[in-house]
Amino acid sequence: MRTSTFGGSRIALRRALKQPLLNAVARLPDGVQRAMFTPRIRRICIRVPLLRAVYSGCMRRHPIDLQYGTETSGFVDALALQRDPELAAQLSPYMGSQPTIIRRALDTLGDIAGYTFIDIGCGKGRPLIVASEYPFALALGYDISEDLVKIANANGAVMARRFPHRPPIRAVAANVADLAVPSGKVVVFMFNPFGPDLMAALLCKLEEGLASGAIEHLFVVYDNPVCGEVFDRSRFLKRWFAQMLAYDHHELGFGPEVQEGVVIWQSLSGARPDAFADRNRPIATKDSLSATIG
Ligand SMILES: C[S@@+](CC[C@H](N)C(=O)[O-])C[C@H]1O[C@@H](n2cnc3c(N)ncnc32)[C@H](O)[C@@H]1O
Repeated sequence: MRTSTFGGSRIALRRALKQPLLNAVARLPDGVQRAMFTPRIRRICIRVPLLRAVYSGCMRRHPIDLQYGTETSGFVDALALQRDPELAAQLSPYMGSQPTIIRRALDTLGDIAGYTFIDIGCGKGRPLIVASEYPFALALGYDISEDLVKIANANGAVMARRFPHRPPIRAVAANVADLAVPSGKVVVFMFNPFGPDLMAALLCKLEEGLASGAIEHLFVVYDNPVCGEVFDRSRFLKRWFAQMLAYDHHELGFGPEVQEGVVIWQSLSGARPDAFADRNRPIATKDSLSATIG
């Protein structure tokens, strides 16, 4: 009994210290962060439970932010995103995905000129920034956190000033359960935003749009597809692509892994000819935070 009480208070203490510690690391100068992340120091520090989140790398200023002058780095706990504990239990924390993985995934799609890119759970808008490098009609994001949406729109404004001819970026505060059915030609992107119940609710909306003809053609690009079986069960979709994609060398140490599983589905309506022989590879979901492609 005593041990579990001590264990419980140790976990509570670790939780209370985690976010302030992560915030403090995020404020360190880039040179200090680089020194902290030399392989020898990282190898030792990552064994310390409290430092594990720090050494996931998401607090470091990401190369894409240095390149564009945006602010997409950091980690935000699920309870800081959503105060309702029941809803928070279904959400993944905020951490940005890796731009090179998004680019490699988008590069498989072929001509997407005029499609709308929609990031479900857009956070600070890193995938919207990457999508604006492509000829989409619009890069649109939804997130449950108003604070993150404000940051995503500020990033969109930075990009619009620097690249006025690129597609516009818009982020909207909304719970995915309340979204309107999208229309036209659409690429939906997700980086493991939430669990199976919300994923099933999202799929229902997409299927409604496909059944009514409001969505002409759809790609669903799912990075770290923890709930991928939800889409595999849909009679409106089929697989387009499934692979483990490696982080580019300059992004190693800026996220928790060295590679991510990416699975892409396309709608049967408006379908393009199959292009990837190994597109039906199975998804192995390890836990609520991680899935690999078999
Ligand atoms: C892992 S982060 C991904 C952020 C961004 N898509 C990226 O790739 O950089 C997941 C995001 O999903 C958002 N999210 C979780 N549940 C949501 C919901 N029900 N509706 C809208 N956004 C949600 C979280 O607030 C968080 O910002």
